[in-house]
Amino acid sequence: MDLKDNILLKALPQHIAIIMDGNGRWAKQKGMIRAFGHENGTKSVRQVVEASAELGVPNLTLYAFSTENWNRPKLEVKTLMKLLISSLKKEIKTLQDNNIRLTAIGNLNLLPPKVHKELSEVMMATQNNSRMTLTLALSYGSREELLNTVKEISNKVKNNIISPEAIDESIINKHLYTQNLPDVDLLIRTSGEQRISNFLLWQIAYAELYFTEVLWPDFTKQDLYKAIIEYQKRERRFGKTSEQLS
Ligand code: IPE
Ligand code: IPE
Ligand code: MG
Repeated sequence: MDLKDNILLKALPQHIAIIMDGNGRWAKQKGMIRAFGHENGTKSVRQVVEASAELGVPNLTLYAFSTENWNRPKLEVKTLMKLLISSLKKEIKTLQDNNIRLTAIGNLNLLPPKVHKELSEVMMATQNNSRMTLTLALSYGSREELLNTVKEISNKVKNNIISPEAIDESIINKHLYTQNLPDVDLLIRTSGEQRISNFLLWQIAYAELYFTEVLWPDFTKQDLYKAIIEYQKRERRFGKTSEQLS
């Protein structure tokens, strides 16, 4: 039986975020260089994008490169950027055929011009697609995002556009890179690590966390289904009592 049949389509997470981790270890296990792991990780990206769209998940956010990842060896960073360009080129048709909109969050100005250009092109070409929003977190760090938000709001206060008393959660939401996205319902991290690594700190306040030992290049549609089934078994209380919910 397909695990997919155990998913309640009426109770799908509206926003799934994934920390795609374990490419390097996957390659090492095979006696290969890290780049081989990154290359194979793109197959898993296709799997989760397809599976999410097929199910009807409206928002999928993938952590592809963190602000801290800039500190990796130069060659690895270069390989990752090249892979990004080739994947964007290759996948634009799939995105169009499946009516998927691509967006990006992060300090995108730090990306090499070629990546920036390719990314802008795909974002522009897919901006009116409506089946699912696929967000790539690139050069993304939650603390950097929050700093940026504080600066933008402070400037508006300084210029009398916003009064300090008017600052509320919705104003903060509007100034985050994730501005139009709902809060994360389900956060998945692969490779056995159980940490957040500076990802969406504000947006995961009430997300259900799901950790799996599976290394990212081995992650398939079935693994995504497993995570969603587990998510659907959880009781999300948002501070209330169980009795209040029923
Ligand atoms: C995730 O895999 C990809 C990125 C962070 C870009 P890693 O490259 O972190 O793989 P491990 O954690 O070293 O196995
Ligand atoms: C988190 O993975 C970032 C991405 C998946 C893009 P890392 O491999 O960089 O995280 P740490 O360093 O193990 O926390
Ligand atoms: Mg890692």
